[in-house]
Amino acid sequence: MAIDQSFLDELTARSDIVDVVSRYVSLKKSGSNYFGLCPFHNEKSPSFSVSQDKQIFHCFGCGVGGGVISFIMRAEGLEFYDAVSFLAKQNGMTVPENNYDKKTSKSRERLLALMKDTARFYYSELWKPENINVQQYFAKRGLTRKTMNRFGLGFAPNSFFATMDAMKEKGYTQDELLACGLVAKSEKGNLYDKFRNRVMFPIFDLRGNVIAFGGRVMDDSKPKYLNSPETAIFHKSRNLFAIEKARKTTNDYFILAEGYMDVIALHQAGFDSAVASLGTALTEEQARLIARYTKNIIISYDADNAGQMAAQRAIDILKKSGLNVRVLRIPNAKDPDQFIKEKGSDAFRRLIEQSSDDIAYKINNIASKFDLEEDQDRISFLKEAAYILALIDSDIEREIYTTRVANMAKISPQSMTVEVKNALQKRNQSLKKEKRREVRSVTQNAQPKDKSFKYENITSARSEEGILSVIFGDNTLVSYLNGKISPDDFTSPILKAFFIHALELYNNNKNITIPAFEGHFEPEALSLLTTITSRPVPAMREKALDDYINKIKSCKLKQSDSTTDPLLALAKAKKEKKFWR
Ligand code: GTP
Ligand code: MN
Repeated sequence: MAIDQSFLDELTARSDIVDVVSRYVSLKKSGSNYFGLCPFHNEKSPSFSVSQDKQIFHCFGCGVGGGVISFIMRAEGLEFYDAVSFLAKQNGMTVPENNYDKKTSKSRERLLALMKDTARFYYSELWKPENINVQQYFAKRGLTRKTMNRFGLGFAPNSFFATMDAMKEKGYTQDELLACGLVAKSEKGNLYDKFRNRVMFPIFDLRGNVIAFGGRVMDDSKPKYLNSPETAIFHKSRNLFAIEKARKTTNDYFILAEGYMDVIALHQAGFDSAVASLGTALTEEQARLIARYTKNIIISYDADNAGQMAAQRAIDILKKSGLNVRVLRIPNAKDPDQFIKEKGSDAFRRLIEQSSDDIAYKINNIASKFDLEEDQDRISFLKEAAYILALIDSDIEREIYTTRVANMAKISPQSMTVEVKNALQKRNQSLKKEKRREVRSVTQNAQPKDKSFKYENITSARSEEGILSVIFGDNTLVSYLNGKISPDDFTSPILKAFFIHALELYNNNKNITIPAFEGHFEPEALSLLTTITSRPVPAMREKALDDYINKIKSCKLKQSDSTTDPLLALAKAKKEKKFWR
């Protein structure tokens, strides 16, 4: 644990989970809990619950859960320490410096320094006279030297060792190079530079640290791009290319493009609020990141089919974060980079002005599949459009678009309204079904949602879960377990770690609650624990515990050599340090 526990206790005491979650989700009280739409998966009816008594959140739909700190980690895309600082700041508290795990922060700083030095190395390689061809590559693509410098562009030389050697020279270790994903290991175990003979695009975090690279070939060879892997300092799904620049814009909108080159071309043309996801489809975390800085987003994806499909997906994700979404269409199958190069920035500005809102965009997409002069096509168009219209929550908006669609197909708005009502009914029915399925899949599926926690022995694991949920419900029952079961009897490593931590809390006269596990386990593990401990507990608790213990014991194939005293076993397990953070 990196941060002083008493500080964390005070912080969580001051950050009521209902208040914190309310800033992200609109909650309604129902019984003793609050409910709302889950911010972590797409849903139309609320399965996200917050308990003020327990200070936890839990989604019955997607299974996420935890305390207030893991909520902030997920909602803001932050690491544990940063989430704690975030909450502390809101409460006017400062995280005690001296208690922060110096070792972690130091190694993180080392990795950031290595990435910065590597970016500098790539930059100096680019401007070497012998690499004039690389400079020409960028020039041919229309980039000015000013733009290249602003984006810190560089070149990774055509060598298996050049980058590695240069960084070793500066005092970085092989482990650090590996940890940053700058080198890879061959089958024989030899290290070599990952990025070779590629033009290099550094990726920055919000504070301007280099956290990753994208590297592009200069010809048609494959793969076109290589990106840094996930590392301790780089999470693709939580960062956006050029966000550190876009956040400083004076525009009241952001532009979301697909490629690095699109973003750079847009910035050069004066659109300094352009960002892109990092070689993967847009994530909800990225949408929330955008929503922190603007209310309006214009999707400007490639005009090809793949780009338009991706745009449809992005619309829904962006809208969920409360953004007003518009979609820009580039005529003649081009990407923004090519379009600006050929037509200039004024022409692109006109495209922005002509961009359509998300609903109009979807309707136009459907219309483009049909010939609206043909009766059969008109019917198909109207049926498909009715489903889009049924998804609009606001009555006024729905009416306006319904009239528009009716006019497009030259029918009366009244008959279209009837069609939309039918679609709305069907939608509500299927939502109910989906909801039932979701709830069933969480409660009946014996395996954890997160595959990394897969149980080897399901029968035993179910009883191990049972023990955890009983002692969460009534902490005093830990003493009932004394001499009956030990952590070593647990077959699932994650459940064993939970059990050990619970025993440790009990020994220290602390309550066994979800918030007391935060900081000790990753958010994914906390989701599992929240799911387990949110299940109903049997009425006869001691009897239930006996049943669980018997099941576990009978499942046990070989006799454990360890003691059956949980507290002695705890001491042993502690020595093994089987914690998850
Ligand atoms: P140019 O072809 O140079 O104009 O690049 P672009 O940035 O416009 O790329 P493109 O539209 O082809 O792809 C969009 C984004 O997807 C890129 O910026 C990359 O982040 C990613 N991408 C494209 N090709 C690859 C690939 O081969 N591998 C990986 N990992 N990512 C890719
Ligand atoms: Mn391109």
